[in-house]
Amino acid sequence: MKSKLLKLKKEFQAELEGVVDLRSLVDLKNKFLSRKRGLLTVALKEISLLPVEERPEIGKLANKVKGFMEKELTLRQRKLEAEEEARRIKEAQIDITIPGRLPPMGGLHPIMLVKEKMEKIFLELGYTVEDGPDIETDYYNFVALNFPKDHPARDSQATFLIDEELLLRTQTSPVQVRVMEKREPPIRIIVPGRCFRRDWDITHTPNFFQMEGLVVDEGITLGDLKGTLEYFVRQLFGKKTKARFRPSFFPFTEPSADLDISCFHCGGKGCRLCKSSGWIEILGAGMVHPNVFKVVGYDPERYSGFAWGMGIDRVALILYQIEDARLFYENDLRFLQQFREII
Ligand code: DAH
Repeated sequence: MKSKLLKLKKEFQAELEGVVDLRSLVDLKNKFLSRKRGLLTVALKEISLLPVEERPEIGKLANKVKGFMEKELTLRQRKLEAEEEARRIKEAQIDITIPGRLPPMGGLHPIMLVKEKMEKIFLELGYTVEDGPDIETDYYNFVALNFPKDHPARDSQATFLIDEELLLRTQTSPVQVRVMEKREPPIRIIVPGRCFRRDWDITHTPNFFQMEGLVVDEGITLGDLKGTLEYFVRQLFGKKTKARFRPSFFPFTEPSADLDISCFHCGGKGCRLCKSSGWIEILGAGMVHPNVFKVVGYDPERYSGFAWGMGIDRVALILYQIEDARLFYENDLRFLQQFREII
């Protein structure tokens, strides 16, 4: 009996070695200690069959073996539970060094990218940015800019009228007048903003953007106008770009000019972008008309100034070489997503 108990102990020890998880631990426990058929349980029952004088010694040994097994099982159970806990924590660990998943990001509209680039050039020259209302009066959009009532120059502006007095501004030029009314020279401003005209074709949309420029001080000359705009086009279209001024007409400037740039695409040889002429028209400009100064209460004998206005959409069409201006207003993401970076 004694050797049987010792053998059970050895067997138990050997099997304990092979226990790798909690489930096989429970199996081992049942094998030796289950209430009915456990190997040790059965052996313990046999003790009562022994001669009385042998029982105390064997009984003591059996209890020791049982105690040993229970203790070993508990120790092993704790160890396995700790291991499993450690494994769970490790698996559930969050790697905070993995870059997060970015939600889809918006970007600036191509016209806004071009507007920012144009603004930057003038801001560096000390200009400030001004703003005015989209809904204008006939007075600021036309009369104060020396477009008399019924003047044929109004026809060129395809105006959206709201009533007798109000309209959607056709140009950013009215902001010239609004600023000069409020302030004394020196003035050096740009005015980017929305304009509206009843136009809809490959190069015109009813809503579009212009940027106006105005400089007023004593002794401002046509040379200043030319120097400023030549500098601007070189910054915007590249150092090799040449500028050409052609006589033109605007009611609020005298003399007036249109400015062409040498085609930066073909270098002036002639291509599709410049319609084979080698030149691309980009803006209108001129010396501020004395009548405009009179309207705002400036003395035309003392002050002179120059102004210009250009279509931001048009510059964007040229810079990005886009064929149809209407694409800017269709909000097709496949189109817009191509303009992620500042040009
Ligand atoms: N406002 C004019 C237009 O819409 C552009 C323009 C021409 C603005 C000459 C000016 C200027 O300030 O001096 O066609």
